[in-house]
Amino acid sequence: MKDGVQPSSSSLDRLLKKRDTHVGKALSIAHGKPLHIIRGEMQYLYSATGEKYLDLVNNVCHVGHSNPKVVESGQRQMALLNTNTRYVYDGLTDYLERLSETLPAPINVGYLVNSGSEANELAVRIARAYTGAHDMVVVEGAYHGHTGMLIDLSPYKFRGPGGKGIPEPWVHVVPIPDTYRGGDRDYTSELADIVNRIDSIAGLLIESMLSCAGQIPLPQGYLESAFELIRDAGGLCIADEVQVGFGRVGKHMWAFEEHRVIPDIVVMGKPIGNGHPMAAVFTTEKIASKFEEMEFFSTFGGNPVSCAIGLAVLDEIEDKDLMHNAELLGKIFVDGLNDLKKKHALIGDVRGRGLFIGFELVSDHKTLEPAPVEAKKLVAEMLTRNVLLSTDGPHNNVIKIKPPMVITIEDVNLTLKLLDDVLSNMK
Ligand SMILES: Cc1ncc(COP(=O)(O)O)c(C=O)c1O
Repeated sequence: MKDGVQPSSSSLDRLLKKRDTHVGKALSIAHGKPLHIIRGEMQYLYSATGEKYLDLVNNVCHVGHSNPKVVESGQRQMALLNTNTRYVYDGLTDYLERLSETLPAPINVGYLVNSGSEANELAVRIARAYTGAHDMVVVEGAYHGHTGMLIDLSPYKFRGPGGKGIPEPWVHVVPIPDTYRGGDRDYTSELADIVNRIDSIAGLLIESMLSCAGQIPLPQGYLESAFELIRDAGGLCIADEVQVGFGRVGKHMWAFEEHRVIPDIVVMGKPIGNGHPMAAVFTTEKIASKFEEMEFFSTFGGNPVSCAIGLAVLDEIEDKDLMHNAELLGKIFVDGLNDLKKKHALIGDVRGRGLFIGFELVSDHKTLEPAPVEAKKLVAEMLTRNVLLSTDGPHNNVIKIKPPMVITIEDVNLTLKLLDDVLSNMK
């Protein structure tokens, strides 16, 4: 797919050289190959050399890259006023009210910050303030953010490259409730055993559908039992909806809703600002009232520009019926992938909700031997066909699909056809 864009004057080589000098080496490049991207438009990214890529992994630009309505709202507000939450302005209260309306009734007090990490950090502080306890429970393979506390609460990091293993005695890790790999394992009992050994618990921090752990929908009943166990032990339940919230799962605005539970604290990020740095923490008045002793203030969190952008994102989700799009296209995607699974032995499992999908590559259906090399190759081959995908999961063998919610049936059909071609050539 070539676009008529003129090559940029700054060559990729020159940028990479500068990057090499000035950008910390702890940061990796996406898709295994440097892409010099100069423009985004809805579900597409355009490179300096005129390539047009279908973006199937950016779950931040939820309502489309450079969505005109969102851009216009931000620009208009920027030209009018930008200040902070110590002032009174319509945008702040309108936005918090609007977000509250998407949540179950008791959760109606919000805090606005600038990133998912900040939001999770705040959520844990609130849980500790409310319970007076310190210990936290997290799920194996989870990533919750890059701050010091959250690296300690992210097995994905402390067990991953550069990590030093379980960091602190206050961190408790429960297994990934993976029904594909787990067979008959009773994940709820395993969680109960761990929780029952903890003296006092501040909370459970859990994604309502697991992302870095391998695009895994939680088994039926798991979240309900987990919340009950944690609450019985005196802790609060924090739903990390940073990746899976804002209607991505199709049927529900928040992924926890599928499980008929009401968290004590809900954390929002990534898609909330369509790329503008924003995040939020919501909780009940009762819990918030125990977090009033020390003032909470974030210089940029909840500023009028962010609120205008956040409101425009919510409008776009509603006006374009994007949850319905996610539900409809997600089903077509999963059905199509299941058809490919019948044809290509490399695909071991297909799973997902709405436009949050994963398919796992294995070299043996009996032993479930992961196929990370093939997964990497598949992503690389799809890149040469101008479709952006990536891998994740503890074995790096799960292909993730989590595109902007504005993709079309044509995009889905094209992707399935290209995957079929690539998998046929990989036999
Ligand atoms: C589930 C989850 N929580 C929290 C975060 C942290 O968000 P941020 O990168 O905005 O700090 C991430 C980021 O990838 C995430 O995937």
